[in-house]
Amino acid sequence: MENLISDLEILDKKDEACEVVHVSKDVHTGNARKLYIESYGCQMNFSDSEIVASILKKDGFDTTSDVLQADVILLNTCSIREKAEQTVRSRLNYLNSLKKHKPELLVGVLGCMAERLKSKLLEEEKIVDLVAGPDAYRDLPNLISQVDDGAKAVNTFLSREETYADISPVRLNSNGVTAFISIMRGCDNMCTFCVVPFTRGRERSRDPHSIVNEARELYNNGYREVTLLGQNVDSYKWSAEENNKAWIEKSQVAEVINFAQLLEMVAQVSPNLRVRFSTSHPKDITDEVLHTMAKYANICKSIHLPVQSGNSRILELMNRGYTREWYLEKVRKIREVLGNDCSISSDMITGFCTETEEEHQDTLTLMDVVQFDFAYMFFYSERPGTLAAKKWKDDISLDIKKYRLDQIISKQREHSLLRNKQDVGKIFEVLVEGISKRSETYLQGRNSHNKVIVFPQEGFQKGEYVNVLIEACTGGTLVGKVVSRY
Ligand code: SAH
Ligand code: SF4
Ligand code: F3S
Repeated sequence: MENLISDLEILDKKDEACEVVHVSKDVHTGNARKLYIESYGCQMNFSDSEIVASILKKDGFDTTSDVLQADVILLNTCSIREKAEQTVRSRLNYLNSLKKHKPELLVGVLGCMAERLKSKLLEEEKIVDLVAGPDAYRDLPNLISQVDDGAKAVNTFLSREETYADISPVRLNSNGVTAFISIMRGCDNMCTFCVVPFTRGRERSRDPHSIVNEARELYNNGYREVTLLGQNVDSYKWSAEENNKAWIEKSQVAEVINFAQLLEMVAQVSPNLRVRFSTSHPKDITDEVLHTMAKYANICKSIHLPVQSGNSRILELMNRGYTREWYLEKVRKIREVLGNDCSISSDMITGFCTETEEEHQDTLTLMDVVQFDFAYMFFYSERPGTLAAKKWKDDISLDIKKYRLDQIISKQREHSLLRNKQDVGKIFEVLVEGISKRSETYLQGRNSHNKVIVFPQEGFQKGEYVNVLIEACTGGTLVGKVVSRY
């Protein structure tokens, strides 16, 4: 056990530092051409790559996990911070070396960087043959054939309607137990630091009927957990009138479906299907959502509620639409409705334009009050075209941004460990997801609070629910033993 704990501590540090990259898996259906997709950025991007794989499967492609086997290489990219774009540029440099040996190789850029830079990418990165924005994936077969005919191809048209509702994603990184379902696209919020509204376009919600069908199909195929995805899930709103009148006649449900109602519809697919969701915006999450969470045992008690800053003046400059007090009141409400049986996680940015030392201290004191279970933390990276870039100087030096970031990271480490220590001695229901990344003789899964739990194998199977008694922990993982199964 002690060896395991020290291995886990080393890996916790690696997890904090690493940027996740998802690579397509090997699928052989006898299709002629091989597609390799690499995805950067958020879960929405990973989910989009599954839609791309599905569209191209119909067009004669099988996916591969080996970049050297590929006929077509697609990078599904992220623009959220400058570093994310730099990672993609250095990856394109490496792909350039492959193209020298295999000139017929097609290299395409998808996602947010494609949308932000459009045809400029073709000029800047000479090896790129194809550029497709997040709403242009249905056009990929056509774009690929343009490249096959010797042209370069670009489609960065942003749509007000596209939700890919009818496309059944090819699960690329799946453990066969947990899956993502996109419920909406785009974002209308205009946080001043954020590039997403420019790269993803206007917010639109997907037909709830197609979401429930996708969840049901996943359940029938052995999946036991779905995560409903959107940049701001709490503003999900689907209206039959606006979207499709025929639908309401077919299903006979209320004319407007909000997020709480959608959550309930998905929770009712089966009590054995867990439901998660991300991301919640503090200004939009409603009491109705909290009560729906309380009503269904299979809705996981975990809320990702990014605060960004603990200071009201900075929050106003960020255009987040809430103050420090409003945020703390939301947290109080969550605890009132769900008690301590709900984890709360956050995102935070240090060194936003004009942030003073005292204002940074406000973020630290807010962290002390809330004690987040987990957080993603960044220093501010100015993005061209955003409101902040247009209006204000990026005036906090990199050294100060990084110094403040170190402070919030070490505070969060303390809190994560503290919150995990409070779980030692408790028994949690865990959905088994597979072999532990840490040790071959252990399995891993998560509890309702989204905490990773590692325990000895003892013949338990993926997709099974077991009760685990927690015996030890690190800041990132709980370790225990199974005391009963279902
Ligand atoms: N829709 C989600 C966040 C999506 S982006 C929300 O509203 O919370 C994920 C996180 O990246 C953000 O929460 C923010 O903390 C961070 N981020 C976004 N733009 C950034 C920038 N310009 N510099 C640094 N971090 C940024
Ligand atoms: Fe960006 Fe704000 Fe939209 Fe999140 S809510 S994606 S931070 S604009
Ligand atoms: Fe990145 Fe685009 Fe997601 S900018 S975080 S991939 S929406």
